[in-house]
Amino acid sequence: MSFIHTIEKKRDGGKLTGKEIRDFITGYVSGGIPDYQVSALLMAVYLNGCDNEEIFELTMAMAESGDIMDLKSIPGIKVDKHSTGGVGDKVTLIAAPVAAACGVPVAKMSGRGLGFTGGTLDKLEAIPGFSVSLTEDEFISQVKNTGLAIIGQTKTLAPADKLLYALRDVTGTVESIPLIASSIMSKKIAAGSDAIVLEVTHGTGAFMKDEEKACALAKIMLDIGRRAGLKMKAVITDMNEPLGHAIGNSIEVIEAIEALKGNAPPDVYEVMEVILPEIITAGGVTDSREKAWELACEAVSSGKALESFRNMIEAQHGDPDVIDDYSLFPQSPVKLEVYAVRSGYLCVSDCAGIGECVKLLGGGRVTKEQKIDLSVGLEMKIKHSGRVMKGDCLAEIYARSDHEAESAKNRFLESVNIADDEPAGNRLIYSLDD
Ligand code: URA
Repeated sequence: MSFIHTIEKKRDGGKLTGKEIRDFITGYVSGGIPDYQVSALLMAVYLNGCDNEEIFELTMAMAESGDIMDLKSIPGIKVDKHSTGGVGDKVTLIAAPVAAACGVPVAKMSGRGLGFTGGTLDKLEAIPGFSVSLTEDEFISQVKNTGLAIIGQTKTLAPADKLLYALRDVTGTVESIPLIASSIMSKKIAAGSDAIVLEVTHGTGAFMKDEEKACALAKIMLDIGRRAGLKMKAVITDMNEPLGHAIGNSIEVIEAIEALKGNAPPDVYEVMEVILPEIITAGGVTDSREKAWELACEAVSSGKALESFRNMIEAQHGDPDVIDDYSLFPQSPVKLEVYAVRSGYLCVSDCAGIGECVKLLGGGRVTKEQKIDLSVGLEMKIKHSGRVMKGDCLAEIYARSDHEAESAKNRFLESVNIADDEPAGNRLIYSLDD
């Protein structure tokens, strides 16, 4: 059957068979189907959607377009965690070492930041010497020896997704739930863990602006994972304001280290309280979320979680002294404080705008290839709905130049306002099956 029949079938609202979907993926990856025909199919999927069976077939075809990591030699239930992205989201940097310290093997492949969102790999590279490129054997033996490794996606992981994502980016087909779900889950399935905990964000600082769509995306990803035989959990996180105070690569790692020392900001603590029990129960350490949270707290208070982070840094050739000496992180030459021009309550009206400040400072990417400055960032001194008095410092900006600091300050001031009345707080996080 020719590919044009597949395009016409989806265009007319039909359901594609597993064979049609697999022929599409193998044909595209081998170069047999041109971009213009795939673009037409993507648009038909965007407009007409897919049912869960089609999404699962698409995901598996994409996962199987490259190598599937074999983690069987690592004892225990290997858990991966995925976030759909956000501003100031340093959850992985904290949750992964805590979970590892509780006995959950964490074998994680992470991505880089793009646009207004940050990425775990960039954050880890703020640690001098830290390498995110391990061979498969090194990755596996590190998880066996230390319980935790975080690396970049290998080149052979789901090559179909790389091609399709690049095409979606230029054909107006990124914001499609079937395409997002299959893109994320194909990489997670190929990464080889036994369980996946999804952190699906929504709000002005997330990919999904509304909570309903975030829940729909989460439910589809849970369904795909379960059909593939994986243990799946999902939490929904509000991203209408940045998480914690720090936004920027070095300063987010510092905030994560502080959290591992027991000094997490309240909103970061609340996220941990929901996500860590999911990771620890998914890893089979206990069935009880309450017990899991107790174990997580003990791992922090005993110093074991910090030790786990230190072991990962050492194993991945980073300088572990950063844990005790933050001056070893890349330092920016310019600091600029932003003051309140009136009294009232701080409202974050555009969380993505605050993420964009970091991009303006050179700490975020416009294109995937761009090199970024790991020292720059913005620290919010007052959180959403916090009381402010005229002249209070709202934020501190770390920049390469006065000019970039001023641009970031202006963007920050466009993203917040000071209201007379206290705004409603954001609903932070909940498990999907609660
Ligand atoms: N992240 C992905 O990996 N794929 C998408 O389509 C969207 C976000």
